[in-house]
Amino acid sequence: MFISFEGIDGSGKSTQVDVVAEWLHSMGREVLVVREPGATPLSEAVRGILLDAPYSIDPTAELLLFCASRRQLVETVIRPSLAAGTIVLCDRYADSSTAYQGFGRGIPLELVEQANMLATGGLQPDRTFYIDISIEESQRRAQRRGEQRLDRMESAGAEFYDRVRTGYHAIAIHNERFVRLDGTEPIQGIFEKIKDTIRQYL
Ligand code: ADP
Ligand code: TYD
Repeated sequence: MFISFEGIDGSGKSTQVDVVAEWLHSMGREVLVVREPGATPLSEAVRGILLDAPYSIDPTAELLLFCASRRQLVETVIRPSLAAGTIVLCDRYADSSTAYQGFGRGIPLELVEQANMLATGGLQPDRTFYIDISIEESQRRAQRRGEQRLDRMESAGAEFYDRVRTGYHAIAIHNERFVRLDGTEPIQGIFEKIKDTIRQYL
């Protein structure tokens, strides 16, 4: 089973990935947690460029870098793990490129889809949990965490994040694999809803 988690920065994806992985482990399941961009040496190196580059990156170059990282992760980690029967939990996946590079940066959606197809070879999650919070809540959580420095993506500004969030709503409405969750609910409540969905597959 392949499960992805999506949402704007600070929506609670990593928090839920952690508790879901622990729950699945406790039931004796093989679980692999990966994050995007990252989780392979190449993908982590690309992550460094994408988030920490001290220069601007052309939007299409940005899309291709996210997709290069994704391709390496899919081919060397995700596909082999799924073939071995492991449950893969992915903290962000191709929908992030649709939301951030498509809706956020304004790259035509059909081009983003083509790039994603090249990267994933058509591999889609069985379920995608979309955790929704407002831009204000995302900013509040970043402040609460005392983040001193915004990464390159986080520096894009509130209007960019507005487009990304609108994009996520549109993607969620048009894809049956999406489960939308209210990210302002307590962590445990969100976790229970995720468990209810995953149980249907176990
Ligand atoms: P993401 O991986 O989406 O960036 P995190 O899981 O790192 O988000 O969570 C961002 C911050 O919000 C953390 O400080 C976390 O403790 C907090 N958080 C996560 N889920 C909730 C929730 N449901 N309600 C309130 N705070 C939350
Ligand atoms: P990360 O710290 O992993 O995300 P979060 O703050 O949600 O925990 O940072 C990843 C950043 O990269 C985040 O701002 C979203 C962005 N991103 C894209 O723009 N496109 C993509 O395809 C992916 C996977 C991420």
